[in-house]
Amino acid sequence: MYIRLAVLPGDGIGPEVVAAAERVLAVAAARFDHQVDSRRWPIGGAALRLDLPALPHDTVQACSDARAVFLGAVGDPAFDDLPREARIETALLLLRERLGVFANLRPARAWPGLEESSPFKPERIAGTNLLIVRELLGGLYFGEPRGLDDDGAGAYNTLRYSEPEVARVADIAFTLAAGRRGRVTSVDKANVLETSQLWRRVVKETAPRFPAVVLEHQYVDACAMMLALDPRHYDVILTENMFGDILSDEAGAIAGSLGLLPSASLGSGPALYEPVHGSAPTLAGRDVANPIGAILSVALMFRHSFQAEEEAAAIEHAVADTLASGARTIDLVPSGSRSLTCSEMARAIADRLAQAS
Ligand code: IPM
Ligand code: MN
Repeated sequence: MYIRLAVLPGDGIGPEVVAAAERVLAVAAARFDHQVDSRRWPIGGAALRLDLPALPHDTVQACSDARAVFLGAVGDPAFDDLPREARIETALLLLRERLGVFANLRPARAWPGLEESSPFKPERIAGTNLLIVRELLGGLYFGEPRGLDDDGAGAYNTLRYSEPEVARVADIAFTLAAGRRGRVTSVDKANVLETSQLWRRVVKETAPRFPAVVLEHQYVDACAMMLALDPRHYDVILTENMFGDILSDEAGAIAGSLGLLPSASLGSGPALYEPVHGSAPTLAGRDVANPIGAILSVALMFRHSFQAEEEAAAIEHAVADTLASGARTIDLVPSGSRSLTCSEMARAIADRLAQAS
C-alpha cells in the first residue's frame, strides 16, 4: 500500500527517536512491500525557532491531508515563559483538537526479560499487558472558562464532560477490550465529582452492547495503588483526560521506563502517533534516548491506521526479541552499566525485523 505520512520530529530527543522509528518503518515497508511518502513539518520549539507559531498553519494542513501523523516530542525549556496561548504544550493540545483525536491508546507491557529494569518487584509485574484508553479532548485540559483572576491571587479551570464525549471513547475501549482479554476498568472519582458520575452512567450504558466484556469501576486513587500492587489485573483502563495522563506515567514506571511506551490517538480522520515520553532536553543530541516508544508507535500505526496486523505484530516481535537478547538503552540499566545508543537500539530492532522475513 501507499502510506502518506506527516512527520513532526519536534524538540529535544524527538528528532532522534523519529529517525529511529523511520529506520524501522523503512524495513517494515520493504519487507511487506509498502511505499512510504513521508514529509517533515515543524512543531513546538522547532517551529518557534523558525519564527513560526508553535503550531504553524502549514503543519496543521499537512497533518489533515496525511493518512497518519507521526510526532516525536515537543517541549523546550527556552520557551517556558511564554503565555499559555503561545506555549508549546498548547500547540500539541491544539493539534490533537484539530485532528479530532479523542481516544488516546497507551499500551504498557512488562516485556519478558526486562522486569529487572522496573522499580517494582519482578514477580509482581511479570506478564503485565494493559492498555490505557485516555479521553484526549475533554476535561480540565479544554474546559472553559479557565484563567487567572484579575488580581492574580486565584486561578480556575473547568472540568466538564458531555454524554457523547464519554460514549465515543467508551465505545473504543470496549471494542478494543473485546479483542483482548475482555475486561474494561473504568476509572473515575464518582465519590466526589459530578463529571465522574456522568462518566460512570454513560460507561454503564455502553456495556450491554459488549456482552463479552466485563466492566468494573474503580476510583482513581485506588487504581493508582492497584496498578502498583497488581498491574496484571488490568486489561483495558478507560479514563478521562487528566487521570489518563497521570496513570500512563505510572504505567511507564511499571514497564521499566516511560521511554518504552507508545501511543495512538484516534478520531475520525488521520490518527496521531507519538511516544508517551517528552522531549527530555537533558538527553537531547547525545544519541542516548530510548527509541522503543517511537518504534512501537509505528506498530500501532500499522495496526490502527492501516489495519495491517501482521506488520504491527512483526515490529512488536522484533522489539520483544531484541529486549530478550539483553539489548538495553541507558534508561533501562543501572547507571554505569553498558548500554546501546538510540541508533544502535534502532539498528538492532531493524535488523531483527529484516531477518525475520
Ligand atoms: C502527554 C503529555 C502532554 C499531556 C503535555 C505535554 C501537554 O504529558 O502526552 O502525556 O499532558 O497530554
Ligand atoms: Mn503526560
